Amino acid sequence: MRRVLIVGATSAIAEATARRFAQRGDALFLAARSLERLQAIADDLRVRSAAQVEIAPFDATDFASHAALVDQAEAALGGLDLVLIAHGTLPDQKTCAASFDQALRELQVNALSVMSLLTAVANRFEQQGRGAIAVISSVAGDRGRQSNYVYGSAKAAVTAFLGGLRNRLQPAGVHVLTIKPGFVDTPMTRDFPKGALWASPAAIARGIEKAIDRRKDVVYLPWFWRPVMRLIREIPEPIFKKLRL
Ligand SMILES: NC(=O)c1ccc[n+]([C@@H]2O[C@H](COP(=O)([O-])OP(=O)(O)OC[C@H]3O[C@@H](n4cnc5c(N)ncnc54)[C@H](OP(=O)(O)O)[C@@H]3O)[C@@H](O)[C@H]2O)c1
Repeated sequence: MRRVLIVGATSAIAEATARRFAQRGDALFLAARSLERLQAIADDLRVRSAAQVEIAPFDATDFASHAALVDQAEAALGGLDLVLIAHGTLPDQKTCAASFDQALRELQVNALSVMSLLTAVANRFEQQGRGAIAVISSVAGDRGRQSNYVYGSAKAAVTAFLGGLRNRLQPAGVHVLTIKPGFVDTPMTRDFPKGALWASPAAIARGIEKAIDRRKDVVYLPWFWRPVMRLIREIPEPIFKKLRL
């Protein structure tokens, strides 16, 4: 039985992952903005045989509350073995290009809040000499594109931060997993036309569970995004800048 904190637990990907954790009998502490939706998810996870399910409010932009949230989860579950960070927003790139106020808000939610939480979790896990940290970044962080470079920069920052943490925490035996999904059919992408490259939250959850079990460093989900993104990263900048991506 693992003691797991899930931040952004109302996300479709997080909920699907929590179901898999519950089926293994893990004890779960769920944090998200809507307590009402958290309550409904918690009820469902109890039926799916979670050992314990606790809930708490979480607002990504309330940085001052992040360390206390980690303390609260640790106290409620009697310790922490795994933290999954899943919250995020998909900004409107045009609005962000027109106003840096909007871009700043998006960077706070998608990058800075994740770094703030990771700072609290990493120090704790380093001290206890064990633990696993799994964070949902994105393939969008692998290369900036005109259609979503604010979101992409936030995810690139998270990916780099996680790389540094992994390097720092390796001697302490702490596992750090960077999760890079491609297109996933969730409320975040509700208005996008769907096609063959799209995955379900359940499929992504399966990949997340497997990557945690295998102590992977970086996982692309589904797997084919790894070669796709390698190709995209290798396109020379003089060519890439002319593409309408
Ligand atoms: N869907 C994709 O194609 C895709 C691809 C790559 C990576 N990802 C990443 O996967 C993660 C999960 O997203 P999803 O696809 O599962 O989408 P989702 O179902 O829309 O979940 C997004 C979650 O983030 C929460 N959130 C947004 N702003 C917040 C804030 N200020 N404070 C606290 N929580 C906040 C939302 O809470 P509310 O419901 O209260 O707003 C919601 O629970 C995100 O990090 C996303 O960037 C998604």
